[in-house]
Amino acid sequence: MDSHDFDLETDLLHADREGATGSDVTPPIYQSSTFAIDDPQAMALAAATPGHPAFYTRHGNPNHAQVERVLAKIEGGEAAMVSASGMGAIAATAFALTKSGAHVVAQTMTYAGTRALLAAQLARFGVEVTFVDQHDTEAFAAAMRPNTTLVMLETPSNPLLGITDLAAVAKIAHAAGALVSVDSTIATPINQRPLDFGADVVLHSATKYLGGHSDLLAGAVVGSRELVARIWETHHLLGATLGPFDAWLLLRGMRTLAVRVERHNENALRIAEHLSKHPRVRRVYYPGVTSHPGHDVAKRQMRGFGGLLSFEVDGSFDDAHRVAQRLRLAHGAVSLGGVESLIAQPAAMWPEVNASERAREMGVIPSLLRLSVGIERLDDLLADLDRALQ
Ligand SMILES: Cc1ncc(COP(=O)(O)O)c(C=O)c1O
Repeated sequence: MDSHDFDLETDLLHADREGATGSDVTPPIYQSSTFAIDDPQAMALAAATPGHPAFYTRHGNPNHAQVERVLAKIEGGEAAMVSASGMGAIAATAFALTKSGAHVVAQTMTYAGTRALLAAQLARFGVEVTFVDQHDTEAFAAAMRPNTTLVMLETPSNPLLGITDLAAVAKIAHAAGALVSVDSTIATPINQRPLDFGADVVLHSATKYLGGHSDLLAGAVVGSRELVARIWETHHLLGATLGPFDAWLLLRGMRTLAVRVERHNENALRIAEHLSKHPRVRRVYYPGVTSHPGHDVAKRQMRGFGGLLSFEVDGSFDDAHRVAQRLRLAHGAVSLGGVESLIAQPAAMWPEVNASERAREMGVIPSLLRLSVGIERLDDLLADLDRALQ
């Protein structure tokens, strides 16, 4: 079947039909670490082939190959690579696309793990990083240097849902000879396809919406065949290999991505609008509301605004903590993107960071709550929030 004619919502279900037998509707789990190859030439070829699905599972596995085919298809890339976590994908990309003496441009507002990787780890290997405000496109242009090899974007970003103008920044980066990676975890390919806007590599914490059920950790890289192979060269040596069962579980989760994201989008937009008018809420951060500084850009590059939002309770750290505790539906837990709502207080994760302007830029606002809106019935979620905010 040639699935080129289909929308990505259909590809989620059918892009991997050439399974091992050609007849299994649900694929088997290849829970095998290694694969027998008798012929020495075939063995050498398999060993040298990035992501070979039947050589050794750290290199690749049939369950990886299957989910990678679907990921490449729905992101509009030539190839994909899965890893054991989002950080596995981000670390492999950062190390593969830089070297000692290189320079990276990244966002001030970015997932804390990505920031720590860039600021604390890459720096140890002689890579310099400049962090810029993602809403200020000119700041990217000003930060570029002759040795800039990589511009690492994240949009929407965690935890304040900042928006980067993908087309504009990709143009700036390419003019300076740098590659562009985009962490599109919070958007999902249903809402945003960064490759369509000029990005070279798309990254995901597949732990979140792609898996969708808070039951696995996984990461993904999507791009051209050449770039994914380059990142794989580093990745398979770092060893953050996704287990075959988790790859299978990820594929199963992705089957329902389109319908889940549609509901996440609807629920989050309505909740953001409701909280924007709430007397106990100081400020709402969601790209779907017109007051958001990235709203116009988000409208241009996103089909929906996603299921994650943050809001500042009109009060102290303790007041916000009490609101989170009073919620009956959202679990007080980190992570996001599952079918069930989760609430987290970013400042509680970094008690050592004071409320300086830099902390604020990173989203460490004492009374900020980050809500990963699930697919529960909207009225129940609204009533629960109102009760907790009373
Ligand atoms: C935007 C974003 N990117 C990457 C990650 C890291 O993903 P993982 O926890 O799967 O390593 C996270 C985790 O919260 C995230 O929110």
